[in-house]
Amino acid sequence: MNEELEKRLNQVNVKKFGEDLVQWFEQEMRDLPWRENKDPYRVWVSEIMLQQTRVDTVIPYYNHFMEQFPTVEALAHAPEDDVLKAWEGLGYYSRARNLQAAVREVHEAYEGIVPDNLKEISSLKGVGPYTAGAILSIAYGRPEPAVDGNVMRVLSRILTIWDDIAKPSSRKKFETAVRHLIYKENPSYFNQALMELGAIVCTPTSPSCFLCPVQAHCAAFEEGSQHELPVKSKKKAAKTVELLTVIAENNNGEVLVSQRPEQGLLANMWEFPSFEKSVKNIPDLQMTELLKSDYHIEAVITDEGWMYQDHIFTHLIWKMQVGRARVEEVESQLPENARWVTQSDIEKLAMPVSHRKIANQWKESIEKETKS
Ligand code: ADE
Repeated sequence: MNEELEKRLNQVNVKKFGEDLVQWFEQEMRDLPWRENKDPYRVWVSEIMLQQTRVDTVIPYYNHFMEQFPTVEALAHAPEDDVLKAWEGLGYYSRARNLQAAVREVHEAYEGIVPDNLKEISSLKGVGPYTAGAILSIAYGRPEPAVDGNVMRVLSRILTIWDDIAKPSSRKKFETAVRHLIYKENPSYFNQALMELGAIVCTPTSPSCFLCPVQAHCAAFEEGSQHELPVKSKKKAAKTVELLTVIAENNNGEVLVSQRPEQGLLANMWEFPSFEKSVKNIPDLQMTELLKSDYHIEAVITDEGWMYQDHIFTHLIWKMQVGRARVEEVESQLPENARWVTQSDIEKLAMPVSHRKIANQWKESIEKETKS
């Protein structure tokens, strides 16, 4: 173990720290749906949803998901489209696909019982060290660390750890710290208490140190460095991609949608055909040419005007210019990933948020057109 860390850990009264933290959690824990019981499947789903997503956003999705897929078996047997649809709006959709793949493995290889040991649980798709530790500790009471960004923030302050928490290599140090500090009588509450403390007391910019149950154990509070911790380097700036998106309608009032590839960003989700904008070509022309080359469709751009829609991902920004096209002729079969769908079909498809907003705007403008 790193000497500096060892020194700091030896200054902590581990027993008292665990008691203070867990006692606070017992009194203050929020009433959250995944805390109803210790079903490892429920804990698992919650931990996957809570990665990159706020508790308030997750709650309604979680409740709905649990109604629709209440057990390992139910999720294992569900069509992937239904799972993606239930995840629509939560983002990071590979989480949902990996979760289902892993749940299928649990169903097939482990008789539907989520493994209770590090080796097996870590071999499941999408289950990294954080998720493995969270399930093992919260559901099975095992003394395993579950270190996410919140926990790193809390412990960087308690122990004055100045490593850059944006670097993947830093997590190991925090795991070492948790292994040393964890409250053996109740690892489940200990880990949840660290998360809870990070969420409601030891917050990023204005920690409420005067309400903190472990203030007496906090090295940063003692030296007044809590506002400088954690050290977290900035991510690189997101890249902007300009897209042309087309709502192409045929004579039956149907619209063209295509399914994204199986791999990569927004895998398998449905969208209106979109193309990276060319600087050489005017948008109308580019759209009609691409509809022809990629979808074998003769179309004209209608003059309803363009809509604009931006979407910010973690490393990417889409700037979308959206036009409407009337299909004049379909020259040959659509490619395999494309379909004509009605307005009501669209509501059932799993779409990225940006395309869902476009679909809603389009629906509104049609309703206006039919009224006037
Ligand atoms: N963030 C990550 N996991 C959590 C949990 N189990 N409860 C509250 N917030 C969390």
